[in-house]
Amino acid sequence: MEQLIAKAAWDLTNSLHAIALTGAGISTESGISDFRGPKGIWTLNPEAERRAYRSYEKFVEDPKGWWEEMLTQPRASFLDSLEAAMPNPGHYALAELEQLGILKCVITQNIDALHEKAGTKKLLEYHGSVAKLRCISCGLRFRRDEFDLANLIQENQLPPHCPECRGIIKSDTVSFGEPIPSDVARQSLEEARKCDLMLICGTSAVIYPFANLPRRAKQKGTVTIIEVNADPTPLTEEGISDYLIQGKTGEVLPRIVEEVKRTKK
Ligand code: APR
Repeated sequence: MEQLIAKAAWDLTNSLHAIALTGAGISTESGISDFRGPKGIWTLNPEAERRAYRSYEKFVEDPKGWWEEMLTQPRASFLDSLEAAMPNPGHYALAELEQLGILKCVITQNIDALHEKAGTKKLLEYHGSVAKLRCISCGLRFRRDEFDLANLIQENQLPPHCPECRGIIKSDTVSFGEPIPSDVARQSLEEARKCDLMLICGTSAVIYPFANLPRRAKQKGTVTIIEVNADPTPLTEEGISDYLIQGKTGEVLPRIVEEVKRTKK
């Protein structure tokens, strides 16, 4: 492990455009369950995953009904855990790599806004954010508190409409089957093309199109792909990643940053 941490620190220090890709695994040490790990949400409750696959269809068929159900049914404990969560040393380590001028962008699948809370500035929320709403017509995003959702229920005015284009507004979080917002999709592909180092933290890399990003970067042949994960993933098995540092992101990432700072002195 020591050798791999020193190697990752060296690779990062000598990179010209390093980016990080993250998944639910980086947030488990903040008390948020992942999806497919041993105690993952889908692992423990496959029916919940099947229901999640139907959410976007329901929204398209009946946005009013979707909103009424979303605002009236008891909040899933998962969403409650998101609001209470705080960043952990893994999130802070990536924010520090950005402050050191090494990490140029974080592309996260997580909707928990913990990278933002940890101070990461250049952040692409590939599956959106639980803290935001988005117009499905013009793509404009809003903080949730910019709409008085309780009043919209009272006045029978759901779904909320975009003040700019009158399009329908939904949560910014991207459901299964929903297109990735075009601005985030385009910028993420650009970063995957531009990078010469990709640090992939805490993702099982089985959900597309996100899981395409490492493969697109690999096609260039000039990128170093480092995984930090509790377990090997398809990226490890297919040789997409150059090496896996097997461990907890909350422990491994801060050690990499310490090593970067030690060698930069
Ligand atoms: N440190 C490192 N790796 C960890 C840690 C940790 N502390 N905790 C869990 N992991 C690993 C798990 O072993 C697993 O390989 O992180 C990975 C998490 O994988 P998933 O649970 O599949 O999460 P993710 O890859 O983000 O899922 C992608 O699927 O359901 C959708 O939209 C959802 O964005 C999510 C997408």
